Amino acid sequence: EILRVLEEDCATPIGKLRQVADAMTVEMHAGLASEGGSKLKMLISYVDNLPSGEEHGFFYALDLGGTNFRVMRVLLGGKQGRVVKQEAKEVSIPPHLMTSGSDELFNFIAEALANFVATEGEDFHLPEGRQRELGFTFSFPVKQTSLSSGTLIKWTKGFSIEDTVGQDVVGALVKAMERVGLDMNVTALVNDTVGTLAGGRYYNPDVVAAVILGTGTNAAYVERAHAIPKWHGLLPKSGEMVINMEWGNFRSSHLPLTEYDHLLDFDSLNPGEQILEKIISGMYLGEILRRVLLKMADEAAFFGDSVPPKLRIPFIIRTPNMSAMHSDTSPDLKVVGSKLKDILEVPTTSLKMRKVVVSLCDIIACRGARLSAAGIYGILKKLGRDAPKDGETQKSVIAMDGGLFEHYTQFSECMESSLKELLGDEASDSVEVIHSNDGSGVGAALLAASHSQYLDDSQ
Ligand code: BG6
Ligand code: GLC
Repeated sequence: EILRVLEEDCATPIGKLRQVADAMTVEMHAGLASEGGSKLKMLISYVDNLPSGEEHGFFYALDLGGTNFRVMRVLLGGKQGRVVKQEAKEVSIPPHLMTSGSDELFNFIAEALANFVATEGEDFHLPEGRQRELGFTFSFPVKQTSLSSGTLIKWTKGFSIEDTVGQDVVGALVKAMERVGLDMNVTALVNDTVGTLAGGRYYNPDVVAAVILGTGTNAAYVERAHAIPKWHGLLPKSGEMVINMEWGNFRSSHLPLTEYDHLLDFDSLNPGEQILEKIISGMYLGEILRRVLLKMADEAAFFGDSVPPKLRIPFIIRTPNMSAMHSDTSPDLKVVGSKLKDILEVPTTSLKMRKVVVSLCDIIACRGARLSAAGIYGILKKLGRDAPKDGETQKSVIAMDGGLFEHYTQFSECMESSLKELLGDEASDSVEVIHSNDGSGVGAALLAASHSQYLDDSQ
C-alpha cells in the first residue's frame, strides 16, 4: 500500500511534465522582468561573451560547491593548442567547515590553493612581473556586481554559514589568500552552470545551455540581452547574456510532492527553499528512499518486528548506494541485499523485499529525472528551440555535468528518454545532450583568460 501510494504521488505523466515546463517558462519570464519577480532568481552572470577558442595563457581555477573542492591550473594554447596542459587536485572539505564560520572555510580553501601553487612546474611559465590569475567557480546563488565580484544570496546544499550571507565572496577569498601569503588576482567569479556552459561552448559552438545534476541541481543558458527587462546596464556588444537560473529553487503546484518531501524539507537546513532541488538532486534522493523505507518498517513491518536502528539516521542512505541497488542486474539482487546489510545492518532480506527496494529506487529516481527533462524542455521553449523551424537545421546542445548525471545511469537514461518524449521525434534530432566533464573548471579558467588584466599587453 505504501509503495502504491508513493507511485501514485510521484507520477509524472507527459501532461504533467508539460505543465511543469510551461510553469518553468512563465517563471523564467517573471524572474527576468524584475528583481524578486519569481522564485527563479534568473541571476545575471555578467558573462556576455563565451569562449572563442582564442584564449591563451596560464590560469588557475578553483571550484567550490560540488561534492569535492578542486583546484586546477590550465595552460591555454589559443588557436593552435586549445588546452595544452591541465593539472588538478581534489580536496574534500571537512564537513564541520560547511556549517562553521566564513573565515574558517575560506582559510581552508586559500591554504589548499597555496599548497597547490607550490607544486607548480616549469611547464606553467608566468611571464616576468605578472600576477597569477584565477577563475573562481562558486556554486551557490550569488548576486553579481561585476564579472569578478558578487555577494552570496544564501547557501544551499549542505552549507550553512551565517556570516558569509550578504558578503562579497571574492573579497572573502582574497582576504584569506592574503592571510596565507598568496598573491593572486580573481578575474572571474562564476556559478558551476555558467562555467560548464563556457567550457562546453569552447569545444562545441552549438552549446546553448548547461545543466548540473549533482549534489545540487541548476541550469544556465544564453539569453538575448534585450529580453532581460531587469538589466539596466549597457547592452553588451554580443547582444547576449548568460543567465544563472538557480532552478533548484523552482516550485509549482504542478510538482508531484509527497509526504516524504514535505518532511525532508521541514527537517532540512533550508526549509521552504530549493524545492525542485530536493526532489531531483543527488544530495536528497537517497534520503527520500530512507524516509520511505522507514515508514514501511514502522507501519508495515517491512524489516520484521523491529525497525533497524540505522534506518533512523538521516542521510545514511547516500545516492551512490541507491544507484548501485537500482542498477543491480543479478537474478537474486545480490547488491541490494549486501547494501541493506552494510548500511542498515539488516542481516537477511528476501528476494521479494529486495524487489520492493528496487521499485522504490525506480519511482524516486525517475520522478527526478523526468522533472529535470521538463526543466530543460522549459528552457528550450523559452529559447524557441523546442520545435524545428521550417528550413532550419539549427542544433541546440545542452552541456551536462555532475555526479548524478555521470554515475547514476538509470537517472540519466530516464532523463534523456523523457526529453525525447517531450520533444517528439522531429525536434529530438535537433537537440543533443552532452557530458561536459569537468567543464566548469576549464570554463572558469577560460573566463579568467578572457577577462585577464593583461589582455591588452602584447603576449
Ligand atoms: C563537477 C563540476 O564536475 O560537477 C563542478 O566541475 C560541479 O563545478 C560538479 O559543481 C557538480 O557535481 P557534484 O556531483 O560534484 O555535485
Ligand atoms: C545549488 C546551487 C547552485 C548550483 C547547483 C549545482 O542549486 O544553489 O548555484 O549551481 O547547486 O551545483
